[in-house]
Amino acid sequence: MQTLTFTTSPLACMLSGGATNLRRPQPIKNKVAPSCRHQTYQSLRHDKVEVFKSLESWASEHVVSLLKPAERCWQPSEFLPEATRPDNDFMDEVRALRERTNGLPDDYFVVLVGDMVTEEALPTYQSALNSLVGVRDETGASPSPWATWIRAWTAEENRHGDLLRSYLYLSGRVDMLMIDRTVQYLIGAGMDHSKWENDPYLGFVFTSFQERATFVSHSNTARLAKEGGDPILAKICGTIAADEKRHENAYVRIIEKLLEIDPNETMVAIGKMLRGKILMPAHLMYDGRDPHLFQHFAHVAHRIGVYTPNDYTGVLESLIGRWRLEKLQGLRDNGKCEQEFVCSLPRRIKTLKAFTDKKAKEGFEGIKFNWIFNKK
Ligand SMILES: [Fe+2]
Ligand SMILES: [Fe+2]
Repeated sequence: MQTLTFTTSPLACMLSGGATNLRRPQPIKNKVAPSCRHQTYQSLRHDKVEVFKSLESWASEHVVSLLKPAERCWQPSEFLPEATRPDNDFMDEVRALRERTNGLPDDYFVVLVGDMVTEEALPTYQSALNSLVGVRDETGASPSPWATWIRAWTAEENRHGDLLRSYLYLSGRVDMLMIDRTVQYLIGAGMDHSKWENDPYLGFVFTSFQERATFVSHSNTARLAKEGGDPILAKICGTIAADEKRHENAYVRIIEKLLEIDPNETMVAIGKMLRGKILMPAHLMYDGRDPHLFQHFAHVAHRIGVYTPNDYTGVLESLIGRWRLEKLQGLRDNGKCEQEFVCSLPRRIKTLKAFTDKKAKEGFEGIKFNWIFNKK
């Protein structure tokens, strides 16, 4: 999971019926991180629990199989200066890294830091997955394929934040004290996933969109790094993007399977997730100073083309197509209603795009980021 968002666009929240889908944390008092209110928890219907029990062997074959053994996985140290080399050689590698990043603008670093901070809040995302009844890791080392996936997915994701953090540190372009403080605040604040209702149908719809959005976002930071003269950073972001794509594939397969065996409930879950006020994984991001840090970060990501309303529409179209939602048959009235809503969403977003592009530019001039030493 990780980085950016389902959407950073004010448009999607208008279409989903919310005033905004980016919760604005309130200014922090008494050094306490932002907290969530009005949370709801529901118990999952027994038949849904049974669905996931019955899918265990399918999950082993089609989901767990997408994981890579640790021996075949890349590791952060492979992309970083080799500290065991003689002093001068190591320093030459660090110097070369710094020279490569010279061509990248501060805006780029703001977005890369935001992506990294989001990745670093991984404990929160593992906790969120373990809230899902029927798939969660009941013992902490459960052999069930769902629990196996959650733990191994976490282990794969753990490399993303580690690598980006080390690279950013060595670049010397960012304020690591403010960044590390942001990570601590964010993990301490958590993430409000009450809209998942502890239901894997809803949770896996969310993660499908989230992994796709993350793939798009990291692909765009890779492209910008290449254009800015840092092919190594481009390779790093591209490598992380490839992981996100593989993870997206796993979650998309799960929803695809649920559409096959329980189409109406699954269609309702997709509609519900897209209609609801969706809170982003890092929506409680805070650095101790800026109470609107997430919105500010998301704005810059939009402005430099790392994640835009067009990207959000592309994510929607991709998943609607992959799940063949327009062709879904045999739905009951509530399922048909959600099918119509979801399938019409990309068109409605495109219609409103000019308006939201203008809105996105309002109120964000001259934002300063403590991550880059309070520069604009
Ligand atoms: Fe991911
Ligand atoms: Fe990630």
